[in-house]
Amino acid sequence: MPKLTIRDIDLKNKKILMRADYNVPLDKSSPRQITDDTRIKESIPTIKHLIGQGCSLILCSHLGRPKGKALPEFSLKPVAERLSELLGQEVNPHTNGQSIGVRVKFASDCVGDEVKKLAGSLKPKDILLLENLRFHPEEEKNNENFAKQLSELAEFFVQDAFGTVHRAHASTAGVNKFLPSAAGFLLEKEIKYLGDSLQNPKRPFVAILGGAKVSDKIGVIENLIPKVDAIIIGGAMAYTFLKAQGIRVGSSRVEEDKLEVAKEICKKSGKITFLLPVDHVIADKLDKAANVENTNGIEIKDGWMGVDIGDSSISRYCTVILSAKTIVLNGPMGVFEIDRFAKGTNAISYAIADATSNGAVSIIGGGDSVSAVKKAGLAEKMSHISTGGGASLEFLEGKELPGIAALKDK
Ligand code: 3PG
Repeated sequence: MPKLTIRDIDLKNKKILMRADYNVPLDKSSPRQITDDTRIKESIPTIKHLIGQGCSLILCSHLGRPKGKALPEFSLKPVAERLSELLGQEVNPHTNGQSIGVRVKFASDCVGDEVKKLAGSLKPKDILLLENLRFHPEEEKNNENFAKQLSELAEFFVQDAFGTVHRAHASTAGVNKFLPSAAGFLLEKEIKYLGDSLQNPKRPFVAILGGAKVSDKIGVIENLIPKVDAIIIGGAMAYTFLKAQGIRVGSSRVEEDKLEVAKEICKKSGKITFLLPVDHVIADKLDKAANVENTNGIEIKDGWMGVDIGDSSISRYCTVILSAKTIVLNGPMGVFEIDRFAKGTNAISYAIADATSNGAVSIIGGGDSVSAVKKAGLAEKMSHISTGGGASLEFLEGKELPGIAALKDK
């Protein structure tokens, strides 16, 4: 059932508490700089809409895992500054092309008298960002009193933190008990792309799953087998699948305790196309200066490890991808952080971009896949780049996500 969104409700002049996912990467410099502001940019359509309605906005988020302590290196202050800059460049559709030009105020805590005063003094179109919710242990414990304190700052709650909806925390699953609520545009978009791909895919539907560990992807593979036409496997987890079939994989990374599970998955995949690499790029050590070869066949000799899919695998995989109409990518094909081992991951990204320009819907999820696609300069060519790592994986596993479940159906 679709969830209520901010386009379904009249929010004129309301005071809104909005949960965003501003858990952005920061470098180590002082003051710390944001190295990727995608999540901040992705919150702007919802902010613009609410400001356009004359709302005053109280934004809240977590950053990192400070374990309930107020650690300055996890402060959201740099986010307030970056958001002010970005809003300064945004044009307000409701004011004849003038810039939104709002300076985002910053509260040094997220609950307490000081914050109450600041929130109470907000005028229409003012924006206040609260300090990191996880500076209080009550946030991750979904403490009812903490959720109530947050709710008392506003009249309505907007959930737009897709990246965090898999957590049952006070700001994702608790606040809704005390305030009427709805989904923001980012959450709506994520549910639409990921949900449609699972429930109503244009076919052929191809899932490409990579990364190091089978254990991370078992739930996704099992949920996808009955839904997709093909699953393509890459990354180190391919070696566990190959070893489970008795194929020599040299000193490649293998999860020995998952060999039985891998065998079971191969059996269950009987009715769909389930592709494993047929050749590999192998190296004698995991180092950019290693000796490197492309194998002639599927086996890997002793003392060598697989670091990427090989040329024949690339061409088989690309043929399947180019004929797809729905594509989900989660996980790289090899150790793409080292340029010499990035060919397979890049080739797959280019094939997905080509399929997308021919009308396929492509959904990229998971931190590594997103950074590989961005590094190749292909992000704009994809239909949807998910802002959720763990959240998109749990969505693809078919799990109920607490932050979505807590919202009202339409
Ligand atoms: C993420 O980056 O995946 C989300 O912000 C959730 O963060 P968490 O894994 O620390 O809960």
